[in-house]
Amino acid sequence: MSQTYPASDEFIANAHVNAAQYEEMYAASVSDPDAFWAEHGKRIDWIKPFTKVKNTNFEFGKVDIKWFEDGTLNVAANCVDRHVATRGDQTAIIWEPDDPKTPARHISYAELKDEVSRMANVFKAQGIGKGDRVIIYLPMIPEAAYAMLACARIGAIHSIVFAGFSPDALANRINDCGAVAVITADTAPRGGRRTALKSNTDKALFDCSDKVKCFVVKHTGDQTTWIEGRDLDVKAMMADASTDCPPEEVGAEDPLFILYTSGSTGRPKGVVHTSGGYLVYAAMTQELTFDYHDGDIFWCTADVGWVTGHSYIVYGPLANGATTIMFEGVPTYPDAGRFWEVCAKHKVNQFYTAPTAIRALMGQGPEWVEKHDLSSLKLLGSVGEPINPEAWNWYNTHVGKGKCPIVDTFWQTETGGHMVTALPGATPAKPGAATKPFFGVQLEVLDPATAEVQTDTAAEGVLCVKDSWPGQMRTVWGDHERFMETYFSQYRGYYFTGDGCRRDADGDYWITGRVDDVINVSGHRMGTAEVESALVAHETVAEAAVVGYPHDIKGQGIYAYVTLMNNVEPTDELRKELVKWVRTEIGPIASPDLIQWAPGLPKTRSGKIMRRILRKIAENDYGALGDTSTLADPSVVDDLIENRMNRG
Ligand code: WT7
Repeated sequence: MSQTYPASDEFIANAHVNAAQYEEMYAASVSDPDAFWAEHGKRIDWIKPFTKVKNTNFEFGKVDIKWFEDGTLNVAANCVDRHVATRGDQTAIIWEPDDPKTPARHISYAELKDEVSRMANVFKAQGIGKGDRVIIYLPMIPEAAYAMLACARIGAIHSIVFAGFSPDALANRINDCGAVAVITADTAPRGGRRTALKSNTDKALFDCSDKVKCFVVKHTGDQTTWIEGRDLDVKAMMADASTDCPPEEVGAEDPLFILYTSGSTGRPKGVVHTSGGYLVYAAMTQELTFDYHDGDIFWCTADVGWVTGHSYIVYGPLANGATTIMFEGVPTYPDAGRFWEVCAKHKVNQFYTAPTAIRALMGQGPEWVEKHDLSSLKLLGSVGEPINPEAWNWYNTHVGKGKCPIVDTFWQTETGGHMVTALPGATPAKPGAATKPFFGVQLEVLDPATAEVQTDTAAEGVLCVKDSWPGQMRTVWGDHERFMETYFSQYRGYYFTGDGCRRDADGDYWITGRVDDVINVSGHRMGTAEVESALVAHETVAEAAVVGYPHDIKGQGIYAYVTLMNNVEPTDELRKELVKWVRTEIGPIASPDLIQWAPGLPKTRSGKIMRRILRKIAENDYGALGDTSTLADPSVVDDLIENRMNRG
């Protein structure tokens, strides 16, 4: 039996949801979803109230997901305007800059309304309106939140591209969604270094329609190129713009944003989230999972370039009238105490980060934590990958001082918000387990081979969801077939997460990791196919196969097997060159950690690469390769084992 850690009696007494309430609410949420969500739909303000709640179909070929479909609303009005009357002077966003010597900024709800309205008017004046796509390629600065909310205000659809992505990746996303504009910044300081975002954008725009407008936030003041007629100084334009911008009325099912994410095949897909259901779900999970109370200071350390930043830096907290922190920097700059310094400085109450960050800081020693006063912390959260016991214990002991409940939240870009998580007042934490489903989420464990539903409480298999929840993605931008194919074809009638899981005898869920060709690098999702296609685009590479392998800090590292063209010398210089190449093709997060020269790859007689074997060798677990008799040439395996790169 695993040890469990319940919250203190005092925490439970104050919590929004205790154990008995969880049981009762969960039962209600699945027995009568219409009634349950009709009630929780009231968490947000509607212009025209909905009369229909759930209208969803998981049947392959007919997948269709609608929530609150006849209601109308405006998301920015919900995240900003409606709080101004009651808490106009309260801080909405605390901006903590990369350099701790630069003062933090506190943006009140009243100021936020003005800034968002000004930016919305700037967009409108350039002809941007309802349904248009706007790419946001910004660092973690308040303007990123303004841009999201300005789009929402005018009914435009934003798509954020993480500032660590390359010009190529940016161009692909601009073109895939047919964006009419990009908003970027001159340069982005991070960890004391600067990324040239504007110059990246210039490169990307070479490959895009010349009609795409380029808004530039002059953030650092660093010099950039300037193309008259295309580049627009957004801060200067905001200074001249009116603060009056009536929010556009949009339908509950009108798209709010597109966010590109990697899958097991092909190019990243544009995950589409709509307005009503997404906002209800983001707001509800932010409040209940983190047990957020009025006046608390909430810090999610993610970047707005990922879904975590969408739901738990911007939309969820702001819909709830919370104070949310936006941090421009990195955990280790100027030193390994930065997270804790920021927690102490802003008296953070709920702190939400990823296991990879915890492991990296754990390696620097507890003295970096002990230096700072963390007495304001009430709750800790984890997201992105399973948290290993060592990291859990360190987080609990040194950061939480043994008194903060830890919620391990399993979810995905596709799910909009938490799917499996403890509620701190209801569910005792169990290190390594995501524990229980959130309200309305009906999990099933299926046998991966037979698709049979596992009915015993203790079970192992693939994690599927039986019915829809309001935060679910609605489609892949421009490709509903791909949406159905990716998530609803393998296990008919279910949404398939792509993850394996184990359910223990207490009914708690343990996520065991992806069962497809997706790897999880520092809590970020990377498609092996994407890295492979970047590698083979290099003139020296004939073939490449990429797999994940265990990595102490990142969770998984990227291991690439590369077959070179005839007569190309396999040198260390070429290795470096290929790493650099992948960084420019996709971005630094896709950099291979290890490259093994492979004269041949293990293939079946029909030419299919046997990834199972490549994974084993990359894991340094080559003793148990299983059946290799179907290989066309079994001798390639011996060579791969002999020259394996991971001997740890
Ligand atoms: C994949 C989703 C939205 C969260 C940030 C990543 C893995 C995420 C956990 C967790 C175990 C987790 C899964 C999932 N994952 N959270 N708490 N425990 N695994 O979002 O890039 O869409 O990746 O991250 O494998 O499928 P994402």
